[in-house]
Amino acid sequence: MKIDEIFKVYQDNIMPTYNKVPLIFVKGKGSRLWDINGKLYLDFFPGWGVGSLGHCHPKVMQGVRDQISKLIFVPNNYYHPFQAKLARELIYLSFPGKVFFANSGAEANEAAIKLARKFGVLTLPGGLNRYEIITFENAFHGRTLAALAATGQGKYQSGFEPMPEGFKQVKFNDPVAVKQAITDKTVAIMLELVQGEGGINVANRDFVLFLRKICDEKKLLLIIDEVQTGIGRTGKMFCYQNYGIIPDVMTLAKALAGGLPIGVMIAKKEFGDILTPGMHASTFGGGPVICRAALGVLKAMQKEKILSNCQNMGKYLLEKLTLLKNIYPVIKEIRGLGLMLGVELNIEGKQIVQAAYARGLLINCAHDKVLRLMPALNVTKKEIDQAVGILESVIARSVSDEAI
Ligand SMILES: Cc1ncc(COP(=O)(O)O)c(C=O)c1O
Repeated sequence: MKIDEIFKVYQDNIMPTYNKVPLIFVKGKGSRLWDINGKLYLDFFPGWGVGSLGHCHPKVMQGVRDQISKLIFVPNNYYHPFQAKLARELIYLSFPGKVFFANSGAEANEAAIKLARKFGVLTLPGGLNRYEIITFENAFHGRTLAALAATGQGKYQSGFEPMPEGFKQVKFNDPVAVKQAITDKTVAIMLELVQGEGGINVANRDFVLFLRKICDEKKLLLIIDEVQTGIGRTGKMFCYQNYGIIPDVMTLAKALAGGLPIGVMIAKKEFGDILTPGMHASTFGGGPVICRAALGVLKAMQKEKILSNCQNMGKYLLEKLTLLKNIYPVIKEIRGLGLMLGVELNIEGKQIVQAAYARGLLINCAHDKVLRLMPALNVTKKEIDQAVGILESVIARSVSDEAI
């Protein structure tokens, strides 16, 4: 297909649900992507958080190739060894519990919401009236209706009301607001420890400890959405490990299968048998090809010391960005954990992102003014130097344009 034809087919045949950039990518390796014209890009936002090992990691490709040549799919009424292997691995890496496999972050969160409601019905005083989940302003939990109701951003909900009942958003990092929101209907508290779509807002340590304590006291489930933060992004395998707590339920997706669709809910052992046959299901969830991909990711993380690279490169990138902040007052704040970093600007970030694209650097902007940098966790110093060099030239240019 010719370039113009591709754009035309999109225009005529695909729903316009995305703000699209006119770039057509055809090949990727690590932090590099090539477009249809052969132009090379440095990808500092691979797959919106999916590409933690960059593009086309050999260990992921190897497992997928091998599995495709043997058996592509097994439905969930049968068994297969790689689903068992992946579940065991995830439990080993996180906490004693049980796993449910789905296909996306929103689906993993839907599963967690259903589990929380069933937990309320089955075990808490007040039974059927225990269904309310406390979530947070600027949170993002996905686009299905319940996940959207949990999402604390009106702009995503607008036009799709009424939202499913049973969600209450309160201010992030505010223990008093949480305390006031808990009623005899509350069943769980759900949050991202670093809000990604919300603009890289990091949960305070004291706040997280408070949430763990109040959930224990009131017998509520603490649900941590690690769809974006999980699988090493913040320098630990799971972000909650930075805080010294263990959630009751955790959801994962994005980076876990190296680019193939996956969603996972993990519940602590005591909540692992709440959902019984017929209560929840997914046709494709945890199919063998996906599980092989995810096992490839986990193996690469261990063999290639990805977590320590993430910690070291996270520090390095933070230092380099802080130097930029010291030079350019247009940068208001740098924040984040590991290789999940946000650069808050005093101006709209859109123009910076577009100028970076033109210079061969792919980044993102969240919440209008926060540049989001989430490079592959195996990124090198050289790639960081190159990316920050491009970013600096783009920022310097935009500042001088504004001054004219
Ligand atoms: C924290 C978080 N939760 C849930 C989701 C939804 O995931 P998905 O798009 O796979 O449904 C996202 C997507 O960006 C996310 O960042």
